[in-house]
Amino acid sequence: MKIQFDETNMLAGVAGEAHGISRSEIARHQPRALDALASFRKRSDANEQGFPHLPFQTKTINEVRAYAESVRGSYDTVCLIGIGGSALGAWALDCGIRGPHPVQGAFSSTHPRLVILDNVDPAFTSAALASMNPRKTLAVVVAKSGSTAETVATFLIVRDWLTQALKAKAAGRIAAVTSADRGDLLELAKRENYRTFYLPDNVGGRYSVLSAVGLLPGALIGIDIRKLTRGAAAMTHLAWQPDLSVNIALRAALCHWLLWTRKNKTIQVAFPYSNHLWGTAFWFRQLWAESLGKASNRAGVTVNTGQTPIAALGTTDQHSQVQLYIEGPNDKVFTFWAVEKFPDVGRIPKERLNLPAFDYLAGQSLSKLIDAERRATGAAMIEAGRPNCTFTLQKVDEEHLGAFLQLMEFETAFMGELLEINAFDQEGVELGKKFTFGLMGRKGYEEYRAKFDAYEKKRAAAQAPSA
Ligand code: PA5
Repeated sequence: MKIQFDETNMLAGVAGEAHGISRSEIARHQPRALDALASFRKRSDANEQGFPHLPFQTKTINEVRAYAESVRGSYDTVCLIGIGGSALGAWALDCGIRGPHPVQGAFSSTHPRLVILDNVDPAFTSAALASMNPRKTLAVVVAKSGSTAETVATFLIVRDWLTQALKAKAAGRIAAVTSADRGDLLELAKRENYRTFYLPDNVGGRYSVLSAVGLLPGALIGIDIRKLTRGAAAMTHLAWQPDLSVNIALRAALCHWLLWTRKNKTIQVAFPYSNHLWGTAFWFRQLWAESLGKASNRAGVTVNTGQTPIAALGTTDQHSQVQLYIEGPNDKVFTFWAVEKFPDVGRIPKERLNLPAFDYLAGQSLSKLIDAERRATGAAMIEAGRPNCTFTLQKVDEEHLGAFLQLMEFETAFMGELLEINAFDQEGVELGKKFTFGLMGRKGYEEYRAKFDAYEKKRAAAQAPSA
């Protein structure tokens, strides 16, 4: 497994004094980075945070593999019902290994597809159901809390859809991933005898891709989860090294922290030059946003911090967003995700057509072109004083993807320590959930219904013509 981090284009010597950081600044803050590492290590060793342990949980990995083996061939579609951290990891895995749409190829019982129901858009839900055959579908419902309204509502629809077609056999086509000791999904799973897997309490949704939350759908669509976790385990060993030259998660966190807090780069653009990593970019967007967007720090001081993550796809978005990135406000840092080896180099035919805009490309390859485009964009950004950096994955396979996901989680955790915030809670998300419960009439949430009514009143007063 080979993943590299190159911060050269973040340096003042390249990006300019006003927007770059210096090597001496990095060296000066090395002790702070090592403190961040030590304090996160403490949390991990005390089992306060569990994602670093996930690649080593062989019992879960083996149970998931055994279950996937036992049902293999009986379905052509895995229907995942979940949202946020309970869905995005599976999408990253599916897109990374099985491939992005539309290149996934036909699905069959030997090459099952993943359909993710992570929204309650009624048109989307009914069209997705119409595209699936209940006799060839395996439903996986994922909710740590066991109560998220979108997941519960969609699951009730899918459960009914399966029951109408399969009667008493429907429960055998459902697997649930939830907390081991609480929640109404757990209650229902027990009552109806679903195959159930558990998410450890010390692993939050957005850090759960290497738990059963991501491993189960991954294994069911044919991903080799042993290779995936092997890559993640190797990255975990690196991420605990108190040495910035090998610990790229820590070095990337430190460089990003310096640019953010010293050069005011309040936006980070995650810029994969690989369609296979597009799902991972959306997974990362949630990880970075929910983990680092916080009202107060660990000492209780109001900080309202956060770095807005944006997902952009190279080269596609060079032709939609790069104009803004090069000439607009210099408030962003760009993190390119490069891939060294593509499975096919994409040879361009040698035929010459005597047309200057065509002939220079004859005989070259798409892998060379995508690499040139990324390097050219980096250079253009530097020309305009826009700092950027690059993660390079040798290739996108299970091992590298597992390592990269774990790398991003470690970088996020270290960034949380550098900012002295709790990167593992999500009060803002929970507040939205409570308002929805109140609005939809869930018992115990009358307070939020009342708050909502007061908000409506305020709106009505503002809309009323002034006297
Ligand atoms: O990262 C998180 O904690 C959240 O994004 C959750 O994953 C999301 O809100 C879904 O929660 P649950 O798994 O309880 O349905």
